[in-house]
Amino acid sequence: MTTVRRAERGDLAQIQDIQLASPQAAQWNVTDYLQHDLLVACEGIRLIGFLVGHTLGPGESEILNLAVAPEYRRRGVARELLRHFLSSHSGEIFLEVRASNMAARLFYKSLDFEEVSTRSEYYREPLESAIVMKFHSC
Ligand SMILES: CC(C)(COP(=O)(O)OP(=O)(O)OC[C@H]1O[C@@H](n2cnc3c(N)ncnc32)[C@H](O)[C@@H]1OP(=O)(O)O)[C@@H](O)C(=O)NCCC(=O)NCCS
Repeated sequence: MTTVRRAERGDLAQIQDIQLASPQAAQWNVTDYLQHDLLVACEGIRLIGFLVGHTLGPGESEILNLAVAPEYRRRGVARELLRHFLSSHSGEIFLEVRASNMAARLFYKSLDFEEVSTRSEYYREPLESAIVMKFHSC
């Protein structure tokens, strides 16, 4: 059974493994995630996914990164992580995703996120546009 909880410092090594196995995700320093709202999905003692986001201001939040271990994808793990994040963040939720990342774009669209704009040449290595997506969380 998959459970979702807030992450602790001891989870960072497994979060790093999931991030490295997900080249489509942002490859940031996972230690920095502890400054934000960091959730992990677990199957027993194993971490199988994480979501990091933060509040930008009143009624406005942002998802910074989200990834699920490749062998656990298409089982509703990301949906469960996002459901937990939305339950504690109301108002507008924003995120950016690489234009070529169709799996993530379809994932967010399946949860009623809208594509609201494009930021050209936003990402490096490789150079690519970002699609900005938005959701209203009640
Ligand atoms: C995007 C990602 C987080 C989705 O995680 P997941 O746990 O597999 O997603 P879920 O199982 O919760 O999917 C929920 C719904 O999203 C849609 N979806 C998810 N992955 C999809 C894909 N590869 N293709 C098409 N639709 C997809 C489907 O509608 C799916 O419902 P269904 O399986 O009943 O059809 C995962 O593919 C991932 O880790 N990718 C690499 C990292 C990444 O790109 N992160 C995004 C950073 S912004």
